[in-house]
Amino acid sequence: MTKFASSDDIREAFLDYFVRRDHQKIQGSSLLPQNDPTLLFVNSGMAPLKPYFTGASRPPHPDLCNVQPCIRTRDIDDVGDRHHLTFFEMLGSWSIGRYFKDRAVELAYGLIVDTFGFPKDKLYVSVYSGNAELGLQPDHETARAWERVGVARDHIVYLGEDNFWGPAGETGPCGPCTEMFFDTGDAYGPKYVPGGEFDTKRRYIEVWNAGVFMQLDKRADGSFGRLPFNSVDTGSGLERMALVLQDAQSVYETDLFRELMGGVKERVGSSFPEEACRVIADHIRATSFILSEGVSPGNEGRSYIPRRLIRKCVALVERAGVRNFDYPGLIDIVVRRFHHHYPLLKQRKDKIVTGLVQEIREFERVIGKGLERLDHLSRANGPFTISGKDAFSLFATYGLPVEIARDFVKEKGGTIDEEGYHVEFQKHQEISRASDKNAGQTWLEDGALVTRTLAGRVSEFVGYEVMDADAQVLALVQAGVPVKEATAGAQIDLLASRTPFYAEGGGQIGDHGRIQGANGAEIRVLDTRKVGGVHVHRAEIVSGAVREGDAIRLSVDEQGRRATMANHSATHLMHAALREVLGTHVRQAGSLVDAERLRFDFEHPSKVTPEQLRTVERRVNEFVRQDFKCEISLTTYAKAVESGALAFFGESYGDEVRMLRFGPASTELCGGTHVTATGEIGLFRILSESSVASGVRRIVAVTGEAAVEYTLDQDQLLKDVAARLRATPRELVERVEQLVKKGDDQRKSDPGSRKVHVDPRAQTVALPDGVKLVAARVDAPTEALGSEASRIASDIDGVVVLAGESDGKASIVVAVSKQKGAYYDASRLLTLLAPYIDGRGGGSVYLARGGGTKPGGLDSLIQNAPSRIAEAMKLTS
Ligand code: SER
Repeated sequence: MTKFASSDDIREAFLDYFVRRDHQKIQGSSLLPQNDPTLLFVNSGMAPLKPYFTGASRPPHPDLCNVQPCIRTRDIDDVGDRHHLTFFEMLGSWSIGRYFKDRAVELAYGLIVDTFGFPKDKLYVSVYSGNAELGLQPDHETARAWERVGVARDHIVYLGEDNFWGPAGETGPCGPCTEMFFDTGDAYGPKYVPGGEFDTKRRYIEVWNAGVFMQLDKRADGSFGRLPFNSVDTGSGLERMALVLQDAQSVYETDLFRELMGGVKERVGSSFPEEACRVIADHIRATSFILSEGVSPGNEGRSYIPRRLIRKCVALVERAGVRNFDYPGLIDIVVRRFHHHYPLLKQRKDKIVTGLVQEIREFERVIGKGLERLDHLSRANGPFTISGKDAFSLFATYGLPVEIARDFVKEKGGTIDEEGYHVEFQKHQEISRASDKNAGQTWLEDGALVTRTLAGRVSEFVGYEVMDADAQVLALVQAGVPVKEATAGAQIDLLASRTPFYAEGGGQIGDHGRIQGANGAEIRVLDTRKVGGVHVHRAEIVSGAVREGDAIRLSVDEQGRRATMANHSATHLMHAALREVLGTHVRQAGSLVDAERLRFDFEHPSKVTPEQLRTVERRVNEFVRQDFKCEISLTTYAKAVESGALAFFGESYGDEVRMLRFGPASTELCGGTHVTATGEIGLFRILSESSVASGVRRIVAVTGEAAVEYTLDQDQLLKDVAARLRATPRELVERVEQLVKKGDDQRKSDPGSRKVHVDPRAQTVALPDGVKLVAARVDAPTEALGSEASRIASDIDGVVVLAGESDGKASIVVAVSKQKGAYYDASRLLTLLAPYIDGRGGGSVYLARGGGTKPGGLDSLIQNAPSRIAEAMKLTS
C-alpha cells in the first residue's frame, strides 16, 4: 500500500485524481449551512450543494470535487472508539446528472486500489439490499459493477438501511449508496462470512461512501419524490483514510491528531484512560472549529453543540481531579495544526479562547452542585438505581452529561435507568426539534401583525443615500410570534427604526448584509422584504443575543448591492434602447435584477434578430460611456407620464412617484436603487434572447466585472477552438463547414450508418419473469444495430437481441433498458449467446456488441435466445 506520512498528501492525491478525470475542484463551504434551516451544521460535502442535485441551480461543471469541513452531531456519543469524530474533513466527489453507478464504481476502485494501493483481500464493499416501499430493488447493478472491476463476490455485502444515505437535514436529495471498507484484521473481531454479520463497528472500517446514488427527494411531509435527474455523491473522511494509509490503529495516531493527543496526555497524566483522552482531543478540536465560525456556546440549536462538547471535557477533567487544566494550550495546538487550511482558526483565535474559558467558568460553577446532588442520590446501602427522570434532570439542570453520571454511579455500586433516561431525552429532543423547525421555516408575512407590533412607531428607509446606518431594534418576530429577545442560532424577522436595506420590489432583489449589536451580537441578514409597507429583515443570529430596543448598526453587503445597482440601471438603459431599435410597442412584462445579472421580459411579436441585438448592445454601451447622471425627482403620476416617463407595467403607484432620469436616454418611474452615473456600469453584454410566452421575449444580460469576464471567456473559447482546428479565429467558419460536409459525406458512403428497422410487435416474447424480449435477425453490420436495439429496449422496457450477417461475418448486439439493467446485464447475455456464431464481444450492462465467424449459427441463436436467457438467469415459469 502507498504510505502517506502526511494527510496533506492524501488530500492532494484525492483532489488530483478527480481533477485529472475532468472534475472541477470547488471551495469547501463554511461549517454553517446557508439557507438550510433543516441542518444545524454542514454534515457532509453534499449538504451545501443540495440545490445542484434538485436542479434549483446549475453547478459550474457537472463533475466536482472538494474537501469540506463537517460536524456530525449524530456521532458524538461514539467518539472515543477508533474512528468516530465530531469534526472531520470530508473528501468528496460528485457527478451532477452525468455519470452514474458504473463510472462511480470504476473511479472509486481506481483510486483506492490502483492509486492508494489497498490490497484487494482487505477491501470489502456494501450495496443496498432494497426497499419495496420506496420502490428500490436490491442494487445488483452496483454489485455487478464491483465484480467487473475486480472485487470478489464474497467481498460484496448487501446491507439495508445503513446503505440508504440522506437527506442531509430533514429534506432533500437522498438515495441508496455503496460503501468501501477496510478489513483491520483478526485483532478486531471475527472475519466476515457471506450470510453472517458484517461488523462495521470494529473490524471493518468504512473509508469511503463511494457513491450515494441520488434519485429521491425527501419532502417536508416525509414522502419521497423523484429527482429530475440522477446524481452521484461520494464522501470519505480524511482522518479514516489517514488511519489506513498511515497504518495507524486509530485516527488519533495519525498526523492529524498526534500532537493534540500528546498535548492532552501531558496535561491529564498517564493514568487517565485512553478513551477519555480521545474524547477531549476530539471535542476541543471540534469546539475550536465551531467557535471560529462565530457560534457561541448556548442552550439552543446550533449553540448547544459546543456547550455540550465543552461540558463533557470539563466533567472528564473534573472527575480525574486535575486542577487548572490548560485548555488554551490545546487550542494553540489545534490552531497550529489546521490554520493553513482553515485561516479563520488563526484570525479568531482570541474569540475561541474567550468563548471556551467563559463557558468553562460558567459550568464549573454548576458542575460541583450536580456532582453533589448525584452523590446525595447515590447514598444507599447496597445496589441502587438512579431513575431516568433524575438522570435527565441532572443533565438538564446542571448540565451533567449522562456518561459522567454513569461512571460516578458505577463506582458507588449503582446503575442508571438507561431506558428511562433515553425516554426523557427523546421527549426533550422532540420538543426542541419542533421549535427549531418553526424557527427556521415561518417568515413574517402578516402585514396586520407588523402594524400591531409597531403600534405607531415608524421604520425609516435610508437606503437610497447610505449603505450603513445606526438604529434601534423596534421588534423581533420568531416563527410568526413577536418576542422580546432571541439568541444565537435563531432565525428572526427584525424591524429597525432606520434601515439602509432595500426591500425586494420592482424586480430588484432584497438586500442582504449584517447587523451588529452594540452588545457584540452578530446577525446575518439573508433577505429584506416589505411587509405591511415596512422593511423587514429576515435574519439569522450568528452569535450573541438581541433584544427589543437594542442599539444596532446595519450594513448592507456593499459589493453585492453595487453590482445589483449597475444591473438595475442597465435594465432601464436597455429598455430605452429596445424601444429605439424595435419600436415603441416594446413594454416591460417582468424583470429580475440581482448582483449576478439582469433578466428582462418584454412584449414583442417576433424573435429579435442578431443584428438588432447587436445594435441594442452597442447603444446601451454608448449610454454607459456618455456617463449620464442619475437624476431623481418626486412628482405626481400624471405629471411624470406627461413628461414622457415610462411607467412600469403592472406596478401600482402612490400619490407621489419617484421619477428617474439618465440624461436624454431614459426616464422611468422606479423605486429601485441605481448608480449615480451610467459610467459606473462599465460594460454591458447580452447573454441570451429567447421566448417566454407568445409575444413575450426575454433578454438576460450582465454588466461590470461579470461582463468583462464573459467577454474574456468568449474570446478564450474562440482561441481554443481555433487552436484545436489549427486555424485562425477568422478561418473558423470555413473550417467547420468543411468538417461538417466531410462528416455528411462519410455517413452517406458508410454502410455502417444504414438505418435498420425492426418491428418489435412481431417479435416480442415474454421471459418467465414477465420481462419482454425481442430476438430478431437483421442482416446488417454490428455498428448499424446498436442504436436500434437500444431504442427498442427502452420502448418495450426489456431485453433486445439483434443478430445478422454482413459481408460473410456474423454480428450481434444485446441491449437492456435502464430499468431492467438492475437484473439483466447486456454484456453477460452477449457472452452467453456468442458461442452460436463462434463469436465474442463486450460492453456495458445496457449495451453490448460483438461479432463472430460462423453466420450459419445465427438462426439457432435467435431461436434459442429466450430459453438460454431464461435458463442462465435461473428463471422458472
Ligand atoms: N453524503 C454521503 C456521506 O456523507 C457521501 O458523501 O456519506
